[in-house]
Amino acid sequence: MKKDLLKLLDLESADIARILDVADQMKYSQHHGLPHHYLEGKVLAMVFEKNSTRTRVSFETGMYQLGGHPIFLSGQESQIGRGEPTEDTARVLDRYCDGIMIRTYSQDEVETLAKFAKIPVINGLTDFCHPCQVLADLMTVRERKATLEGLKLCYIGDGNNMANSLIVGGLKCGMSVSVACPAAYAPDQQVLDFAAAYGDKFSFVRAPAEAAVDADVICTDVWASMGQEGEAEKRRAAFAGYQVNDAIMALARPDCMVQHCLPAHRGEEITAEVFEAHADEIFEEAENRLHAQKAVMALLMGADLPF
Ligand code: CP
Ligand code: NVA
Repeated sequence: MKKDLLKLLDLESADIARILDVADQMKYSQHHGLPHHYLEGKVLAMVFEKNSTRTRVSFETGMYQLGGHPIFLSGQESQIGRGEPTEDTARVLDRYCDGIMIRTYSQDEVETLAKFAKIPVINGLTDFCHPCQVLADLMTVRERKATLEGLKLCYIGDGNNMANSLIVGGLKCGMSVSVACPAAYAPDQQVLDFAAAYGDKFSFVRAPAEAAVDADVICTDVWASMGQEGEAEKRRAAFAGYQVNDAIMALARPDCMVQHCLPAHRGEEITAEVFEAHADEIFEEAENRLHAQKAVMALLMGADLPF
């Protein structure tokens, strides 16, 4: 495993499998009240330059449950928001803390932070990717379907950070992945180049109805991500027809799951009916952020795990 979790492209398939196995153990320990203070005395700095509910609460709670201490740093209230260079922030946090989680816009900023910090850096979302979310998604699918190998994951909507991470994570875990996006909203070229090596295990089409056929899990995400609020209206028009609804679900396998990283916009990327019919899976996915990230923190921050 590398020092950091910056993007799923950096992970070996075996790393992802190890994270998911440790995540299952973390979940078992927490649900059964078993002690799991694997990061006693360790400190995680959490830098947020974008809003968050799940990421903040799950990292903060997770660090506490592991016996460590989280520190919340908002971009606006720290010197980061006043332009202190990332290289300097890295070399300062490095001397106080044992790990850094960062949510920001630019992937380059996260890569720079990791380059200048000796301690592990965990990507809590950039415009390019959302690796922690997709680890939780893979955990949820594996939990419910017993395996990932051979399943079909379908993503409908914006070729955004979630699409990029789902494509990479799904393919690395042996799933086949089908994606439907409008032409102007394709996933990142680096991700499409990666996926091209998987031959017919990956398909990228325009029509959601084509991508959804025989899917075991259908994923979607908002049409306008954080930072794109000004484009919301234009995007609503561009994504009309890219909704996960009953007609799309009818094309998938009868036991098809639905995953949504949340927050969801009912009536846009997903109907209220489909959302509520799959709410158990979607909120389990949200819960699994906690367990998956505890696994990532334990593995990267030097926990002495008994499993
Ligand atoms: N899914 C997710 O990352 O949620 P938050 O934006 O609330 O952290
Ligand atoms: N694509 C969304 C995900 C939010 C968790 C965004 O970046 O805003």
